[in-house]
Amino acid sequence: MKTILVTGGMGFIGSHVCVSLLEQGLHVIIVDNLCNSNTEVLNRIDQITGKKPLFYPVNLLDEDALSAVFKRHNIDAVIHFAALKAVGESSCIPLSYYYNNITCSLVLFNVMEKYKVFNLVFSSSATVYGEHNPIPYVENYPLSATNPYGRTKVMIEEILQDAARADPRWNISLLRYFNPIGAHPSGLMGEDPNGIPNNLMPFITQVAVGKRDALNVFGGDYPTKDGTGVRDYIHVVDLALGHIKALEKLIASPNNNCVRSNSISAYNLGAGKGYSVLEVVKAFEKASGKKINYVISPRREGDLAEFFADVSKASEELGWKVERSLDDMCEDAWNWQSKNPEGYLS
Ligand code: UFG
Repeated sequence: MKTILVTGGMGFIGSHVCVSLLEQGLHVIIVDNLCNSNTEVLNRIDQITGKKPLFYPVNLLDEDALSAVFKRHNIDAVIHFAALKAVGESSCIPLSYYYNNITCSLVLFNVMEKYKVFNLVFSSSATVYGEHNPIPYVENYPLSATNPYGRTKVMIEEILQDAARADPRWNISLLRYFNPIGAHPSGLMGEDPNGIPNNLMPFITQVAVGKRDALNVFGGDYPTKDGTGVRDYIHVVDLALGHIKALEKLIASPNNNCVRSNSISAYNLGAGKGYSVLEVVKAFEKASGKKINYVISPRREGDLAEFFADVSKASEELGWKVERSLDDMCEDAWNWQSKNPEGYLS
């Protein structure tokens, strides 16, 4: 049985990926410092899969503690999620973002090298396409970013490109997520942000349960179908299954004999089409039977009018594409929030 180490495995995307890994019969070890997550996630994973992953409350900055995990277990691959991820906050405390996201990643990659673990799936983001590329975004576009959070993703991708160029034992998949929403269909796991949600769907679900009065729609005058921002929403379970496909490809072709040259590859994980904010609101109202009050507000700084993915590379090389619709995303997000109005503390 292969053993997969998941950093940040208690978070929204990480927890769904752990469920998929366990359902594939893989052995899962989570390393997470719980800065934005809750240990209740472990019980929920257990309830869904009948299995509890091993959990180490380790901060990746603690190289000794991380090394001890690698020493104790025979790890076949790592999926690296652990990072700070709030775009707005990253502009207020950029040094914390650079220190945390970059240093944690460097510690992890160095420990992996020391223990000769070279299979890596890295959690990247569509934010690496910056603001000047035409849509749909294609993997070979030049990378840039408009905020410190996004720059950490670009930098880590570049660090990994350099590592793979220098040492062909590295076998790396860079997964660029578009807009993951939804929740596990059981209603046991979902998105549980601290404080006021930054992202659209958790804000909508909190309006629906009465925790917030109204959604601020950031911008009603974009050059889009209805004036509101357009994004490529992807169900978190489809996203999780994309990780399984990427991992299968890495493990099926271990790159330990120094002969392959394309040992690092980037993939867009999105649906390949865009929905506007108002379309998401409408779909959510249909799924939940709740009216979502909203007000059109000024644009949010740094937001782009519209972007979505070209998903042909993931389809051709990983044999992956999304199977769940916007309606599924809304139904599952509502199922989660209505059953857990206070998130994991409900
Ligand atoms: N929006 C609102 N009101 C809100 C929140 C969002 O109108 O309260 C709008 C935004 O303006 C945007 C859309 O809803 O048009 C989606 O916004 P999100 O904040 O949910 O997502 P973003 O596209 O801004 O950001 C996401 C990820 C980032 C990532 C970025 C680019 O959250 O981590 O995609 O890939 F960097």
